[in-house]
Amino acid sequence: MTRGKLVAGNWKMHGLAGDLDAVQAIAEGSAAHRGVDVALCLPATLIERAVRALPGFAIGGQDVHAEAKGAHTGDISAAMLRDCGATLTIVGHSERRADHHESDVAVRAKAAAALGSGLDVVLCVGESREVRERGDAVPVVRAQLAASLPDWPGDARRLAIAYEPIWAIGTGLVPSIEDVAAMHAALRDELAGAYGEPGQGVRILYGGSVKASNAAEIFAVGDVDGALVGGASLTAADFLPIVAAAAAAD
Ligand code: PGA
Repeated sequence: MTRGKLVAGNWKMHGLAGDLDAVQAIAEGSAAHRGVDVALCLPATLIERAVRALPGFAIGGQDVHAEAKGAHTGDISAAMLRDCGATLTIVGHSERRADHHESDVAVRAKAAAALGSGLDVVLCVGESREVRERGDAVPVVRAQLAASLPDWPGDARRLAIAYEPIWAIGTGLVPSIEDVAAMHAALRDELAGAYGEPGQGVRILYGGSVKASNAAEIFAVGDVDGALVGGASLTAADFLPIVAAAAAAD
């Protein structure tokens, strides 16, 4: 099945008004690679300005609350992200799971709320270094995915899974290509069990220290359908070669 690649940038807690130039350069540079879906998940404070400046380019959030509104100081609902013009959101990033104690059940609820509000979802899973060293990464991440997956969204394009080993995020470390391939194959199998044949259209991204120098090798793995990119998504110079590698891989 041809799923096409998705390359999503995760700016985390980076970006002020002056950085909108980088968003623009990335959006303009990505236009040369029409076969690749490209998105930037920005801090909430930049979303509306980026959407206004770059209509048609996919801008997303990094988290949503599971409820539509209410007494949740500091939180943002899916409807609010939509209201700003976002078209997607990350849920379940390991930094949220760790910093805000988000469980699989909470992540599942967030994914469902986002999909229900019309946002596409990038749902993150990944193991700790300890789990990897113990040899349990595949069963642990499979179980995490099974417990975090929302009900079938009706359209495979609306959901992507990002496999991000926690120990590979921001460290410059990446798993072996064999380990990436084994994990993605296991997650693809998990999706088949959860959603049946239509689930084969759900993309599985790799995330964790993806750079221009390793992107081509990672995208060559059969079940890798793109990347979630942190540090290397902050500038066009670092990000666009990753988009180009995704285009070349298909
Ligand atoms: P990184 O982050 O590319 O800086 O390792 C990836 C992520 O956390 O999504």
